[in-house]
Amino acid sequence: MKIAMVGSGYVGLVSGACFADFGHDVVCIDKDESKIERLRSGVMPIYEPGLAELVAANVKAGRLSFSTDLASSIEDAAAIFIAVGTPSRRGDGHADLTYVYAVAQELAENIRTPTVVVTKSTVPVGTGDEVERIIRESGTDVKFAVVSNPEFLREGAAIGDFKRPDRIVIGAEEEWARGVMREVYRPLFLNRAPILFTSRRSSELIKYAANAFLATKITFINEMADLCEKVGGDVQDVARGIGLDNRIGSKFLHAGPGYGGSCFPKDTLALLKTAEDYNSPVRLVEAVVKVNDSRKRAMGRKVIEALGGDARGKRVALLGLTFKPNTDDMRDAPSIAIVQTLLDAGAEVVAYDPEGMDAAVEILPEVTMAASTYAAVAGADAVALVTEWDAFRALDFARVKSLMNAPVLVDLRNVYDPTEARAAGFAYSSIGRV
Ligand code: UGA
Repeated sequence: MKIAMVGSGYVGLVSGACFADFGHDVVCIDKDESKIERLRSGVMPIYEPGLAELVAANVKAGRLSFSTDLASSIEDAAAIFIAVGTPSRRGDGHADLTYVYAVAQELAENIRTPTVVVTKSTVPVGTGDEVERIIRESGTDVKFAVVSNPEFLREGAAIGDFKRPDRIVIGAEEEWARGVMREVYRPLFLNRAPILFTSRRSSELIKYAANAFLATKITFINEMADLCEKVGGDVQDVARGIGLDNRIGSKFLHAGPGYGGSCFPKDTLALLKTAEDYNSPVRLVEAVVKVNDSRKRAMGRKVIEALGGDARGKRVALLGLTFKPNTDDMRDAPSIAIVQTLLDAGAEVVAYDPEGMDAAVEILPEVTMAASTYAAVAGADAVALVTEWDAFRALDFARVKSLMNAPVLVDLRNVYDPTEARAAGFAYSSIGRV
């Protein structure tokens, strides 16, 4: 089956490579010529474990190709996925659908054979209706259907998530389009991945509801962590104690510095806007957004507290800058607000991140980027572990302590055991544990 993927960013590239790996004939399209050029020579635009190998293998097998020319690439494609970005619109937080609608317009002018147009980008309820209108009003007489098929993959675990999904959600109004989507995902049926057919609008909402729910779960446990610190509890025990209840579930109950990334912050905001437009407030999500925003700066203050309340002239080493491990993505990373808070308080900040420093220097020019973990901690008055990269999970405590100016360790991801860290001579603080 021939599949065209319009947009070769995170979702487009991973989905395209995985579809090719299932045996489909896939072309990934992008307007960015240098990106396509680099992809053709095997250079990935993002850091994602396993992606370069997957792309290389499928290009070699002749199932995956890259193009900047939409018109010629979509010829004979049974399914054309729209996987372009839907960033937050500056000013109001609505999802910016400019790119989605531009692709719809281009498809309208170029489809020649019956096609299912599939929106994989995260788009607000009603976007599918608009895409359908754009194509229909172009006057095309080719048979087409517009389907919603949200993606639930996580950065850093994207290939595994795509190939072994908890579920596949497809919002389609026409039976023939459902049939095409069944073919697209047939290899996954064999893995017994449940497929849920819904209306297009429900499918669009499922994506936002899922991300908002997960963001709520994280925010809930983060507030429980704060309470644990006050009442003398241990948030990890609390998380385990509630997570073992199957109705609650143990995942996404890891307390930390607040959620970041390219999805939760943007999608929760967009959901608020949809709710506002339809005059159906989602107050719980409003609270989640506020609590999470203020949490990031609060983490900077936590480090200042660990320094004795005064950061002026102090040197703070951050271990990890990306919003989570195994990605080079800095979008809405808690580290950004933490750095700002520390700089505002007069601290000097040095950092090390295994993959994120190229992106981080653009956003955080005041931060000195170190060449390694141990170079970062040298001379520091406090170390804050911000992102739980594996490389930070087995620090040589004696070495760290000997390099530091003062042995202060703020573990914002609860990577270490408080007793062990204190036994190693650190003034140790973490999240939701005393
Ligand atoms: C998230 C969702 O998990 C995916 O299902 C979804 O497809 C994706 O957004 C998307 O909409 O495209 P992602 O942003 O890659 O994926 O990362 P997550 O692993 O979900 O982490 C998001 C943030 O929550 C990170 O900052 C992470 O540190 C934080 N988090 C996560 C916690 O603080 N605690 C947890 O228990 C879990």
